[in-house]
Amino acid sequence: MNRQLNSILVTGGAGYIGVHTLVQLLEAGYEVIAVDNLANSSIEAVRRAENIAGKRATSYIGDIRDADFLDQVFARHAIDVVIHFAGLKAVGESAQQPLAYYDNNVCGTVTLCRKMLKYGVRRIIFSSSATVYGSDAPVPYLETMPRGKPANPYGATKAIIEQLLTDISGASPDWSVVLLRYFNPIGAHPSGLLGDAPSGIPNNLLPYLTQVAVGKLAQLTVFGGDYDTQDGTCERDYLHVMDLADAHVKALQALTDVGVHIYNIGTGKALSVLEIINTFTAVTGQAIPYTIGPRRAGDLPVFWADAGKARKELNWQASRSLEQMLADAWRWQQQNPEGYP
Ligand code: NAD
Ligand code: UFG
Repeated sequence: MNRQLNSILVTGGAGYIGVHTLVQLLEAGYEVIAVDNLANSSIEAVRRAENIAGKRATSYIGDIRDADFLDQVFARHAIDVVIHFAGLKAVGESAQQPLAYYDNNVCGTVTLCRKMLKYGVRRIIFSSSATVYGSDAPVPYLETMPRGKPANPYGATKAIIEQLLTDISGASPDWSVVLLRYFNPIGAHPSGLLGDAPSGIPNNLLPYLTQVAVGKLAQLTVFGGDYDTQDGTCERDYLHVMDLADAHVKALQALTDVGVHIYNIGTGKALSVLEIINTFTAVTGQAIPYTIGPRRAGDLPVFWADAGKARKELNWQASRSLEQMLADAWRWQQQNPEGYP
């Protein structure tokens, strides 16, 4: 552990990825200050994370767009690093409500960075996404490739925030910025206490599939069976959310260098929708009723990470298998059919 960087502000700390990272940070001995407006989460997730780690975080319920609220948080704690998860993330919704996405994601980050400047905090790890490579990039994606044309307003906000943080670093060379480009996180904490708890009907494959398995939804629609892939269905780089959480702890080390550091966080391997369904059945014994439906607008046929840079520079690589990802997702779903209470 880098002892100079001890006090970590986690925005979006009650969310799916945030709360798994909270566990790893607490277990590694960091002092954690978690901030969340609970727009897409429950404070119960933070309580459970604390119970798992056997340590407590300091939690604040509030919005990162609220400058007065952030003043209180920054004034009370000598923060060394911000890990910035807070944001809206539903791709389809972003096309329907672009203003909400630009306001929450971009304006929220601007307000957060203003407070970082004011209180002398110069280190940030940001939750970016593979979506910033755009639709024309060759696979596998490599950090040296330029950002592509965003496919939707959600992707545009990620690209804008990457550029914003790069420009801040250009103007203030004492900043350390880490942009983590996540691929497709799935799975849950192995205890079954923490997991993905989307509100309403899930958009993402895994929560949809596990809700079919548990009987909450009738059947899964596979979006497209006529892609130019091995079995005709889309391929993605799925990684365990616990591996993704580990990547944040490893990334803290990169913050000792100033400048902007970009890392792909994926396994380096693409798997098809049918491979996910079949492996889920093999691991859990649960058959998944599904039909092959039309393609979903905006889906790319296949992408995966070149994860070599994170391995070399952060000493991070995904270690959990697809079987573990699916068994853990299923345990979470079975134990929490309605999500957090
Ligand atoms: P999530 O919705 O579970 O977590 C985000 C958290 O931020 C939620 O708890 C929400 O209540 C909170 N939040 C939203 N707006 C806020 C605001 N203005 N102020 C305070 N809190 C706010 O999502 P997640 O899957 O944990 O994703 C975390 C981050 O990672 C997001 O920025 C997301 O865009 C990014 N990301 C996620 C994925 C994925 O597949 N899950 C992939 C790439 C990138
Ligand atoms: N899929 C189905 N049926 C469903 C849901 C999904 O067949 O009901 C398929 C999709 O077509 C896609 C794959 O499952 O081929 C994965 O879809 P997800 O919606 O789970 O994930 P995406 O790859 O579309 O997007 C995710 C995040 C984005 C992020 C992107 C890259 O939702 O925020 O990964 O990191 F930008």
